[in-house]
Amino acid sequence: MNQQNSIWLPEAASTIAGDVDTLFYFILVTSVIFFVGVVSTMVFFAWRFRRRSPDDRPKPVYENKLVEASWIVIPSILVAVVFVWGFRLFLEIGIAPPNSYEVNVTARKWSWSFTYPNGVISTDLHVPVNRPVKLRMSSEDVIHSFFVPSFRIKADVLQGRYSYVWFEATRQDTFLIACTEYCGTSHSNMYARVVTHSQDDFENWLVENLPDDSLTPAQRGELLYTQQGCIGCHSLDGTAAAGPSFLGLAGSTRNFTDGTSAVADDNYLRTSIVNPALQIVEGYLNVMPGQYAVTMSSEEIDALVAFINEQ
Ligand code: CUA
Repeated sequence: MNQQNSIWLPEAASTIAGDVDTLFYFILVTSVIFFVGVVSTMVFFAWRFRRRSPDDRPKPVYENKLVEASWIVIPSILVAVVFVWGFRLFLEIGIAPPNSYEVNVTARKWSWSFTYPNGVISTDLHVPVNRPVKLRMSSEDVIHSFFVPSFRIKADVLQGRYSYVWFEATRQDTFLIACTEYCGTSHSNMYARVVTHSQDDFENWLVENLPDDSLTPAQRGELLYTQQGCIGCHSLDGTAAAGPSFLGLAGSTRNFTDGTSAVADDNYLRTSIVNPALQIVEGYLNVMPGQYAVTMSSEEIDALVAFINEQ
């Protein structure tokens, strides 16, 4: 495990980690310079203008436009620089490259599980090195937060919707995953590992860990489509029934009875399953039962979303 006894973050091991560190050190060095400057001036003035006798009375102080302007302008520029720099990095971390390898992440009190496109499920995250990996994350219960210190990535994991984070590991090693949102008794034990493999080793690992009866998420979703009764109201051939057909649904623009509209992305599909009354598609009635957030696990909802995405 890549850990060290230090107050600093562990050695960087992802493509964006260097940029995150540069911004961090810029903020740190700037803060240290200002801290030392302000405190030493304060100490010097306290000594220089100390009261020398009981009759000593301070002379009145008048404004100095140059000093006042400088303490407004210089900090404002620094804050703007940090904001623009940080926001650009935030966007870079939040938007995965289109060719990313996708893994589903489920967080629960108090463990992680990872589902791969071929159906393998693991408790540690296994990924190929030198390839962008996009994580589609959701929680079964409360808010958790996915943090890999060596990769300098962190994102909250929420119940009822997807959040995303991506990284490209640059070294073959084992790295720590920690939960960084207080989530109850065993929050501080909610650890897992990222194991980075060469592309060949990773493909072997995927094959070796595939159980004989395992299904891909989309295949599992197809079973749930029948088992959970979706089939009663949602056709696969474009025929409208009590609910819209799943054919071509994913990625299409949905118009709602309240006059708003949205593109049917993963989060729209998930919300429509767990909270169907929230947005009603034009031409349909609010008749879908709202129990699926309880009767289906987070992984089953992922599977159903994967199935709908293929229609
Ligand atoms: Cu999960 Cu803290």
